[in-house]
Amino acid sequence: MRNILAGTLRLWIVLGAFAASAQIPGRGPEWEACVAKADALLARMTTPEKIGQMVLFTSTQILTGAATNASPLEVEIRAARCGNVFNAYTAAYVRRLQQIAVQETRLKIPLLIGFDVIHGYKTTFPIPLGQAASWDLDAIEKGDRVAAIEATAGGLNWTFAPMVDIARDPRWGRIAEGAGEDTYLGCAIARAAVRGIQGTNLADHSCLLACVKHYAAYGAPEAGRDYNVVEMSDRTLREFYLPPYRAALDAGALSFMSSFNELNGIPATANRFLLQNILRDEWHFPGFVVSDYTAVNELINHGIAATAYDAGRAALNAGLDMDMEGSIYHDHLAAMLQKGDIQMAQIDDAVRRILAVKYALGLFDDPYRGVSEEREAAFDNYPQAHLDAAYDLARKSFVLLKNDQNLLPLKPGLKIAVLGPLANSPRDLLGSWNGLGDAARTKPILDAITNANVGGSTTFAEGCDISTTDRSAWQGAIDAARQADVIIMVMGESADMTGEAASRSSINLPGLQTELIRAVKQIGKPVVLVLLNGRPLALEEESTLADAMLETWFPGTEGARAIADTLFGKSDPSGRLPATFPRNIGQVPIHYNHKNTGRPYHGNPKVKYESRYLDTPNSPLYPFGFGLGYTTFSYGDLKLSQASLSGNQTLTATIHVTNRGARPGEETVQMYISDPVASVTRNVEDLRGFQKISLQPGEGRDVSFQITVDDLKFYNQEMKYDWEPGEFIIRVGHDSSQLAAASVQWSKD
Ligand code: NOJ
Repeated sequence: MRNILAGTLRLWIVLGAFAASAQIPGRGPEWEACVAKADALLARMTTPEKIGQMVLFTSTQILTGAATNASPLEVEIRAARCGNVFNAYTAAYVRRLQQIAVQETRLKIPLLIGFDVIHGYKTTFPIPLGQAASWDLDAIEKGDRVAAIEATAGGLNWTFAPMVDIARDPRWGRIAEGAGEDTYLGCAIARAAVRGIQGTNLADHSCLLACVKHYAAYGAPEAGRDYNVVEMSDRTLREFYLPPYRAALDAGALSFMSSFNELNGIPATANRFLLQNILRDEWHFPGFVVSDYTAVNELINHGIAATAYDAGRAALNAGLDMDMEGSIYHDHLAAMLQKGDIQMAQIDDAVRRILAVKYALGLFDDPYRGVSEEREAAFDNYPQAHLDAAYDLARKSFVLLKNDQNLLPLKPGLKIAVLGPLANSPRDLLGSWNGLGDAARTKPILDAITNANVGGSTTFAEGCDISTTDRSAWQGAIDAARQADVIIMVMGESADMTGEAASRSSINLPGLQTELIRAVKQIGKPVVLVLLNGRPLALEEESTLADAMLETWFPGTEGARAIADTLFGKSDPSGRLPATFPRNIGQVPIHYNHKNTGRPYHGNPKVKYESRYLDTPNSPLYPFGFGLGYTTFSYGDLKLSQASLSGNQTLTATIHVTNRGARPGEETVQMYISDPVASVTRNVEDLRGFQKISLQPGEGRDVSFQITVDDLKFYNQEMKYDWEPGEFIIRVGHDSSQLAAASVQWSKD
């Protein structure tokens, strides 16, 4: 076992060395060889054997939807009617299933074994939205590498991640699973995640096949309700929603998952424009596409197919290679072939892609990929290196929203009252979709605060629960608060209030939580609000009541230690919001890179006929990119290398950043570009670069960004992705609303 752990650590060290030379999966001679082998195998397959490769069934070990297949899994695998399995894990169980496939079927084709490894397998990392708040691509890649190392030891070879759906509506519960509202940040994180999941060599036993989801535009359901319809212009789709899928593809992801939603009238599962025209013809995606859970069957509910047979035919004709759980390909493809409703070439194309990926994963050389109970058990006790990586990403994900009078960091030795329903709830720290995350191995925040408050006293009273109106613990909380020097209220949402099928029509703190803050505030002691939640919340009132507010998302296995260390100043908060926090639900959907409108609001409420609300400002409570720290940074003037450029020249934008406080700190310097006049309306600004820097007290540094015409491109009137000459404003600063600006003229030549 020691050898296995040593191997894990070695892997980390070589990660950097290999990264540059790594072969991107899905291209080049190695991939061609996989396709050739797939073709050779295809030539020996019967029609039922081919169809079996296009089937993915769930095991009942964990269910992530309704189990629909009546026939036992092992029977289906043995009969070569099911070539892929998900929600099956543990070395022993996976080996048993794999053994049936490679020993008891005629062609011995190994199984893909999939699972939702979304933010960790055993060691749980912050939810993806929290990870995005770190803006730390290395830490995110490392987190996914740890997850892949643990998950492959548990027998898996495929994960349904990363989720790269852009989301501008916090009502949608799955905003928790993605990188937030911004396309540029989303692309960078998509690439980092694929690198972490797939590693540098897909055939390595510690690497998982990534599955980019949910293709496409799943993050924009009408009214924020999960699975709801998506209606969107081609321009918006291509400029904002599609690029992260493309970025993940370019990083080498070899499988895609189509989304549940319809897009402009055609469900993604049967959407030829998405699956064939864009994904294959334009982007040359070499891998395969799996449906989401029973989504082929759901074409009937969508109303574009009357029968299961028709649904399957529509999906196959659109280019869908694999049917997740729904049994439609399993039950109907053979009949469609027989009747001539589909062609064998379509089946062959799908199976070739699936088999080529299995060859790329090395499954035909070693179907078990070194799976053993010993290797699996090495992770039972959470290796310190994995916990350290989870701790590091957790602390980097925290966003300090408010800190009046520098209340934080606290000095140990205080009388602290810890209140709120999430202070003593390890289960919630793990967030939704937490793989095999174990609440019993997760410390509650209360314990971590108690340990950190050396020489002081820490009392706890829940006060209220998350969402009911039960007041039985109310008075206890008020009494505890009265005795305290400082009150820490740990509040927010339960883990299951975000994730799949967890949309909310209100984004306020649920239940009596705000009322409890109000009551406690009246006591007159300083109040720190520690927030756990999986979406931007509307915190307008809370932001006036609390003296300090720390957003910690759902931070995972090491979250409690990271929170206590941040509250007491062992670690400084450095996260920046990856999604706008509105003042109230009425502003939703809201995002920083909005358009100007023909009647923009100029700030004087007495002027009528401008684009604004009568009852709330247009601006959000906390803008995209926002976050405070325990020190402050000042920015000098923005200097551009040239006032005018032409063609393919490169512009350098430089700004001097200084740490003005008494503590070292990390700043995320953000660079945005505006294109004030173009042939189509443009966003007021778009993120086009960021750099994380660390500065000692008093230290200053020049930070430079290189800008090329690629950063100026958009879809013009002819839907060509191009740039137009003229003036551009470069903006650099602390967040999307606090920016130094300089103008440049850029001509064609
Ligand atoms: C449905 C979800 O939409 C998807 O994200 C997940 O990967 C599958 N179920 C499998 O669990």
